[in-house]
Amino acid sequence: MASHPVILGVGGGIAAYKAAELARALMERGCTVQPVMTDAAREFIQPLTFAALTGQKVITGLFGVRTSDEVLASSIDHIRVAQENALLIVAPATADLLAKFASGLAGDFLSTLYLAFEGPVLLCPAMNTAMWNHPATQANVEILRKRGHHILPPDSGPLACGTVGAGRLPDPPRIADFAIRLLTQKHDLDCETILITAGPTRELLDPVRFISNRSSGKMGYAMAEAAATRGARVILVSGPVQLTPPEGVEVVPVQTAVEMRDAVLAHLDAATVIIKTAAVADYYVAAVPTHKVKKTAMRFSLELEPTPDILAEVGRRKKDQLLIGFAAETENVVAEARRKLLAKNCDMVVANNVSADGTGFESDDNEVVLVTRDASPIALPRASKRALADQILDQALQVRLSLHP
Ligand SMILES: Cc1cc2nc3c(=O)[nH]c(=O)nc-3n(C[C@H](O)[C@H](O)[C@H](O)COP(=O)(O)O)c2cc1C
Repeated sequence: MASHPVILGVGGGIAAYKAAELARALMERGCTVQPVMTDAAREFIQPLTFAALTGQKVITGLFGVRTSDEVLASSIDHIRVAQENALLIVAPATADLLAKFASGLAGDFLSTLYLAFEGPVLLCPAMNTAMWNHPATQANVEILRKRGHHILPPDSGPLACGTVGAGRLPDPPRIADFAIRLLTQKHDLDCETILITAGPTRELLDPVRFISNRSSGKMGYAMAEAAATRGARVILVSGPVQLTPPEGVEVVPVQTAVEMRDAVLAHLDAATVIIKTAAVADYYVAAVPTHKVKKTAMRFSLELEPTPDILAEVGRRKKDQLLIGFAAETENVVAEARRKLLAKNCDMVVANNVSADGTGFESDDNEVVLVTRDASPIALPRASKRALADQILDQALQVRLSLHP
């Protein structure tokens, strides 16, 4: 198994004890782990635990030797450690560390090391819900995200402080799996923010009924996982689906076409690439009754209004962002995709024939044709949606290169 040298920075949060399990999980996956602890972390767990688990001396201070289990540091150790390791993981990343990293303060070993480290950074914040939601913390997270760091958002659940909410450190094996993906996958999307829509929308008929469609969201979720794995910040605007969001992706849940339009427009300026896989309803009931409609013996008709055309609106508003639409067709697939490409100002349309067996809606596989403005259509043969997602991203990067060489 290849050995991946990683730094595990441990902050002074209640979840510091979980960092010991994370050290083990990383080692089980082939990492050599250099533990670094802040002074506050040492109030929660002993360096000896990390020294025993990793077989490494634990770095705790910028200056001077402390005990035989902890080291050191000669004044240039933060540089050596930065250069010798492939990934910096900070778990738990305290509110304090996020603030230090965001503003470039370097008053202890971990924050000095952060500035000296030039590789990928994975931050796993964990704290009380109010601390996490505080505008200062959120602003710091935004700065760190924009800097291209990977943020694994905290899980929701019961917290040590006795409240329930967002703030829990994700389970260590999940963090370790994410770290391994960062270490082993290509990182050609590190500087991208990719806005993806996925799944169906639900249009209410009355408070208990809706119209929807057969979209499972699998293609959009596969695109989100592929983009996140390749280093992108991914904002996934998702209709109601039965899927677990990929690790490290920011999910914006929506129900209706109007909600999806609003969510997409709210995040449009941040995006460098927009991928619209969602199967948005074409019609909706503009005046939804406030009470459940009762069954009678009479015929019942619905008056439907067209939903907003999100793709066309994004096509009109976009600046130099890359816009990729999806077209689910049952006939004249390429011709329909080309019509959509031009009518909606897309840079690429991914067309699939949803009437084919074993591909399209609900299935794990797909078979698509990529239609762009200048090149001939590219047929991607049947493959898993996840594998196709990487090929679609590869082609999207080619299209952008041809637009902005
Ligand atoms: C019992 C206790 C639990 C704490 N838990 C957290 C926590 O989960 N997350 C956090 O950001 N800060 C937490 N703090 C506050 C940090 O320990 C404090 O901000 C400290 O300065 C962080 O130092 P560091 O970022 O250098 O590790 C806690 C403090 C105490 C006393």
